[in-house]
Amino acid sequence: MQTKLLILLFFALAFITCKDKIDPNPVPVPNPVPGSTALTATPQRINGNPALGEAFIKTGNFAYAGIPLRVFRLANSAPVPNELGRTGENATIAYDYTAVDAFNGVKVVSANCLSCHASYLDNQFVMGLGNTMIDYTSDNASLLPFLDLIITNQYGANSPEYAAYAPFRTAVKAISPNLIMPTRGVNAADKLAAVLAAHRNKTDLTWLPTPQFAIPTEVVPTDVPAWWLLRKKNALYYNANGQGDFAKTLMAAALLTIKDSSYARTIDASFIDVAAYLKQLKAPAYPKNLDPAKAMAGKPIFEKNCAKCHGTYDAPSTYPNLLIDVATIQTDPTLAQMHQTYSQYNGWFNESWFGQGSSKGHLQPTNGYIAPPLDGVWATAPYLHNGSVPDLFTLLKSSERPPFWTRSFTATDYNYTQMGWNYTKKTAMDTGIYDTTKKGYANTGHTYGDFLTDTERYNLIEYLKGL
Ligand code: HEC
Ligand code: HEC
Repeated sequence: MQTKLLILLFFALAFITCKDKIDPNPVPVPNPVPGSTALTATPQRINGNPALGEAFIKTGNFAYAGIPLRVFRLANSAPVPNELGRTGENATIAYDYTAVDAFNGVKVVSANCLSCHASYLDNQFVMGLGNTMIDYTSDNASLLPFLDLIITNQYGANSPEYAAYAPFRTAVKAISPNLIMPTRGVNAADKLAAVLAAHRNKTDLTWLPTPQFAIPTEVVPTDVPAWWLLRKKNALYYNANGQGDFAKTLMAAALLTIKDSSYARTIDASFIDVAAYLKQLKAPAYPKNLDPAKAMAGKPIFEKNCAKCHGTYDAPSTYPNLLIDVATIQTDPTLAQMHQTYSQYNGWFNESWFGQGSSKGHLQPTNGYIAPPLDGVWATAPYLHNGSVPDLFTLLKSSERPPFWTRSFTATDYNYTQMGWNYTKKTAMDTGIYDTTKKGYANTGHTYGDFLTDTERYNLIEYLKGL
């Protein structure tokens, strides 16, 4: 006991003397933003090839099962534009699906990353823009009896086609009922990840028919972040819980469809390419004319009130990578809280194939939200991590944020003055709308534009359009 104390004392003394030698008179550095933590970069595998990554997103095979191609064509017979410039079978399939070979060689169709990460904005197809039209208001498993019927009629229940469909059917049946949301336009991906983890063996990633831990009941809504923000960010996801090797962490998005860890290993190299592709994406330029005088008047407002969290945008740009505590930002706390309390998911991930090996993905829940880069912010409405605010004008004037609202879900219904989606105000009595009184859907916080006059606010918006 005494020896231990002595050793401790020795170290304490050594530390004090050592510190004294290096820095006899330390000047405390004030934290520029109270209630924030700077996120530091974690080691990444950086030998990826962006062109191969892009090709993998557009045509890569990370599915081992799906809907047989011919059946998919029967159900989707209307012609679609070839947005991705794909060739062969994929040329005539919507961009959010890819035709791939199932484990037994049958051609099947599987949803790809772009079902959540691409969208139309004003008739322009934008790769990497979050899909804000997605609809989780009904249970997708209700489509299964219809598919069962066609596939058994066309091929028979003992056919290779049915075998290539069966694992997909099992997964959709287990997952879809967990993802039902009260309004269109918000995403259920965080819950999807939790459900998939509960159904996968952490070592070999094989499918488990019964969930191995309780799945949280709530579906916390998110607005899909734009891919082009990644080039500046030191951590993935709104609450910056995606740390460690990005390529490995991102692969978890393929959990819906991959067979097991041996297949995960074979596509691991492709995900290094995917990460490299995402890292070099840039925001689309504002497509209309900017008023230079207004933008110039908005710039000092931005630099004084916003830049300390969101960075500066003249070359060379700066970005502080700050995580702002929930208590400071005061936007809806549910997403951050869910990740902190649902430790089974993070535990599973960090102990799983994704969190092990020489390049590890790592999930580390936090008590805040990252102040995102604002590149291309004109295109990313609705705003905040839960998409609770329809436009930039009301984001910067919290008293006018609609508590109950809806939009047309038409890509051309975009407002370039208020900068965001046109919306209709609703009341508490309406259903199927964005109801900000629901848990996870609050439009509170981030009141940094409230003190501005409307003229200053529009000037600031004009400046933001050019970022
Ligand atoms: C079901 C919809 C969905 C699918 C499919 C999907 N994602 Fe995502 N993705 C999301 C959502 C929602 C988020 C934000 C989650 C959060 O931050 O809590 C996200 C976050 C990300 C981010 C982090 C961006 C940032 O700035 O933090 C990247 C990168 C990403 N996804 C890449 C991919 C890739 C690559 C694929 C395909 C392998 C994919 N995603 C498939 C919905 C999806
Ligand atoms: C104290 C740090 C801080 C300051 C100051 C700040 N922001 Fe933010 N901002 C954040 C954080 C954190 C978020 C994400 C909050 C969330 O999603 O819940 C955010 C989100 C946003 C978004 C939404 C982005 C999107 O795509 O959803 C916009 C736009 C924005 N801020 C603009 C501004 C402007 C303009 C100012 C100055 C008037 C400003 N911010 C001041 C921290 C800050």
